Amino acid sequence: MRIQFAGIELANPVLAASGTFGYGVEFEEIVNLEKIGGFVTKGISREPMAGNAAPRIIETASGMMNAIGLQNVGVDAYLEQKLPPMRNYPRCAVIVNVFGGTARDYVEVIQKLNDAEGIAAYEINASCPNTDHGGMVFGTDPGALSDLVWRVKQVAKRPILIKLSPNVTSISQMARCAEESGADAVSLVNTFVSLAIDIDTRRPRIANVTAGLSGPAIKPIALRMVWEAAKSVKIPVIGLGGIVSAEDAVEFLIAGATAVQVGTATYADPRASERIAHGLEHWCTRHHIEKVTDLIGTLDTSKK
Ligand SMILES: Cc1cc2nc3c(=O)[nH]c(=O)nc-3n(C[C@H](O)[C@H](O)[C@H](O)COP(=O)(O)O)c2cc1C
Repeated sequence: MRIQFAGIELANPVLAASGTFGYGVEFEEIVNLEKIGGFVTKGISREPMAGNAAPRIIETASGMMNAIGLQNVGVDAYLEQKLPPMRNYPRCAVIVNVFGGTARDYVEVIQKLNDAEGIAAYEINASCPNTDHGGMVFGTDPGALSDLVWRVKQVAKRPILIKLSPNVTSISQMARCAEESGADAVSLVNTFVSLAIDIDTRRPRIANVTAGLSGPAIKPIALRMVWEAAKSVKIPVIGLGGIVSAEDAVEFLIAGATAVQVGTATYADPRASERIAHGLEHWCTRHHIEKVTDLIGTLDTSKK
C-alpha cells in the first residue's frame, strides 16, 4: 500500500483532508494515526483567525455547507503547541495547509514552517471560497495563481501541493498553470460556492451568505475534475471530494489520482480515514491488485 509522490513517502494513499481533522493531535485517541497515510492540517495563517460568525455549518442533501472562515491558531501557536505531539507518530505524514491574503503572507508562513521538524509537505490553499484571505482569488485567476506558486516555490524547503478551486471553467488550465509555475503536485477539489435560504425569514441560512459545499453530493463532479486534471499534467494529482468509502477512493485512483483525501466523511464517522485506508487494502487483496499504484489512471474510455 506504500506510495511515493513528489518526494513524499506514505504508508498508504489515504490522507485526512484539511479543515476536517484539526491539527491531527485532536484525533490521536480516535484514529490510529499510523494506519492512515497522513493528514492535512487546518489552514494556517500568519496571525490567529477567529473565523466567520455563526451559523457557519449546515447539513444538506448528501453533504454539508461550511463557511468557517479559516479559523486557526496562527503559525506560531501551531509550531509551539500543535506540531510537537505529532512527532510521536513518525509514520503519519503531516502536510501543513497554508493560506494568506497576499502572496507575501503565504511566504512568511512558509518561512516559519521551514525550520520545523516533522512536516512532510505544504498544501497551498489557493481555493477557499469563504473569506477574503482564503486564496480563491489566486485559485480562479491563472495569472495570480502562477505568481503565488512561483513565489512560494522560491522559499519552500519542502514539496508544495497546490490546492485548486473547482469554481473555475477549466480545471485543466489551472492545473497546468500550477505545474508550469513549479508545483510539485496539485490537490483537488476544494468546496463549491453554494447558497441555502431560510424561506420563512427569506434570509441566507449561513451568516456569510454563501458557503462551500462538500460531501457525497460533489463526488461525481470532483471525480470528473480529477480525471481532467490528471490528463493535463505530469505532476501527481491528489483527489478529494465526497469520498466516504474504500470504493470511492478506488474510483479516484482509477480516474488518475495518486492519493486521496477524506474530508466531510470524518464528520459522520470520525474514523472514516482509517476505515477507508483499511478497506482499500482489503479491496486490493480481493481484486488481486498487487500494488495500489497499479490502479492509478486506469480508466478505460474506449468505445465498446
Ligand atoms: C468544515 C470544513 C473546513 C474546511 N477547511 C479547509 C481549510 O482550512 N483549508 C482547505 O484547503 N480546505 C478546507 N476544507 C475543504 C476540504 O479539505 C475539502 O477540500 C472539501 O471539503 C471537499 O472534500 P470532502 O467532500 O471530502 O469534504 C474544509 C472543508 C470543511 C467541510
